[in-house]
Amino acid sequence: MKLPKGLDGVVVDQTKISSTQNAVLTYAGYPIKELQNAPFEEVVFLLWHTRLPSADELKAFRKLLVSKMVLPDETIRLMTRIAKEPQHPMSILRTTVSLLGTTNDVERDDPPRILGKMLTAIAAIIRIRDDQPVLHANSDWGVVENFVYLFSGKRPTAERVAMFNTVMVLHADHEFNASTFTARVVASTKADYYSCLTAAVCALKGPLHGGANEKVFKMLETIRQTGQEPTVYVNDQMATGRKIMGFGHRIYKNGDPRATILREIARQIAHETDNDAYFALQEQIRDYMFEKTHLHPNVDYYTALIYHCFGLDKKTFTMMFAACRTAGWLAHITEQQAEGCLIRPSSEYVGQTNRHYRADKEEM
Ligand code: ACO
Repeated sequence: MKLPKGLDGVVVDQTKISSTQNAVLTYAGYPIKELQNAPFEEVVFLLWHTRLPSADELKAFRKLLVSKMVLPDETIRLMTRIAKEPQHPMSILRTTVSLLGTTNDVERDDPPRILGKMLTAIAAIIRIRDDQPVLHANSDWGVVENFVYLFSGKRPTAERVAMFNTVMVLHADHEFNASTFTARVVASTKADYYSCLTAAVCALKGPLHGGANEKVFKMLETIRQTGQEPTVYVNDQMATGRKIMGFGHRIYKNGDPRATILREIARQIAHETDNDAYFALQEQIRDYMFEKTHLHPNVDYYTALIYHCFGLDKKTFTMMFAACRTAGWLAHITEQQAEGCLIRPSSEYVGQTNRHYRADKEEM
């Protein structure tokens, strides 16, 4: 029997939250293409309830989520010590999520409170590392506007809010991807939300998953700094067995639908922020990669440039991914805890057999 590499194509459980069937990403049945400009809060409600909210429900839900964008003072005090450490921001986030699960009021933490805390904590990590004061959410603004303000210190324009909203909507969920599956494995043991989320953050950190966006920008910087031809860079990397970050996908073999939408946002924001040269370079690499490998860009390829244009340091890009995906992780953890059974697969043993232990090894 040929084992499916990396569980490729294996259906491990059922879900009502999202699907990538026929390479079309849908949230509770709605195609992502139709949701791209829906308010992030509406999409979160959809993922958590598998139905769209009424106008009144949406208003109340937005108010609720924003009211939860706050951290206990003690958490900020502890976070300030951790966030100043030289470790990668995703390592800081991993410890922070775990820390969030140890506060006195943790018993009361439900998905709205947890999402609010996660977004606020991610923004706070950025602010603390930049030696800037941690800011407070404004109850009159929506979640996305507040989030951008909390990490950047500037109230974004309506156009920038709309761009970041689309980024957050497109990243909000993606059925059984590596980090979500990790969260579900932990949830299947009936562990608490923060344990599941900490595990999800760990899985997202790796460069084959969420960590790719940082590496994409590193590649763009390297090519520009060295003045190398992008074709030469790609050939050199692949000749030494390295992958080109931001290309390829386990599900989307003919293109990632999210990348198609994000490409236009990247083009626009790059133009508005004098970063056209980066976008032009991305186009060159994209064309050459298709010619050479027939691989398409994935969701991380263009978000790298978008985050850069939002003024973010590349080391924080994967935390942005975590901020958006927390909505989906929470939906899946809840679904798994409610309906799923213990996830415990089997393995094919290929090691030695028929060995016998003896205490008197010297005489063997
Ligand atoms: N650059 C060069 N070659 C690649 C790339 C790439 N980015 N992606 C796949 N390939 C090649 C592989 O080397 C392999 O070639 P082979 O058959 O000659 O060995 C073939 O294409 C199939 O690739 P796999 O890695 O086996 O495909 P899989 O479905 O397991 O991997 C993955 C998908 C991990 C995303 C892969 O494409 C990759 O590593 N991409 C780069 C990292 C990246 O961008 N990750 C973000 C993914 S999106 C997300 O997680 C949000």
